[in-house]
Amino acid sequence: MYTEKVMDHFQNPRNVGEIENASGTGTVGNAKCGDIMRIYLDIDDNQVIRDVKFKTFGCGAAVATSSMATELVKGKTVQEAMEVTNKAVMEALDGLPPVKVHCSLLAEEAIHAALWDYAEKSGIVIEGLEKPKTDISEHDEDEEY
Ligand code: FES
Repeated sequence: MYTEKVMDHFQNPRNVGEIENASGTGTVGNAKCGDIMRIYLDIDDNQVIRDVKFKTFGCGAAVATSSMATELVKGKTVQEAMEVTNKAVMEALDGLPPVKVHCSLLAEEAIHAALWDYAEKSGIVIEGLEKPKTDISEHDEDEEY
């Protein structure tokens, strides 16, 4: 049911971990399955993503998509990272079963949430980036999320 690439990134996920004093972090969750994904970005003065790490508490497809998403954004500018959509991640993994598409959406949302955090902290605007709806990093459970 899973492609070789999905199995590879699930079994040997790249860029697992966290970055201290990250330029931006984003945490998102899917209310239905309860899975949570956090992305850390280290961005240099030229707005290039120098390093990226992730932590995912979720299903195998969520682990594989976060792994692939981190690989795709590494070395890119923040603007280029906007092109790493869930579709791009799925294509890079040679596809996901339809019931697992929402897992790849989590990866896109987590990257956007981390980019948003970076943009806010550094006072810049990333074209096309919208405020994340599901960034749960700074919210308590009883808040709107
Ligand atoms: Fe929810 Fe995969 S089942 S992220």
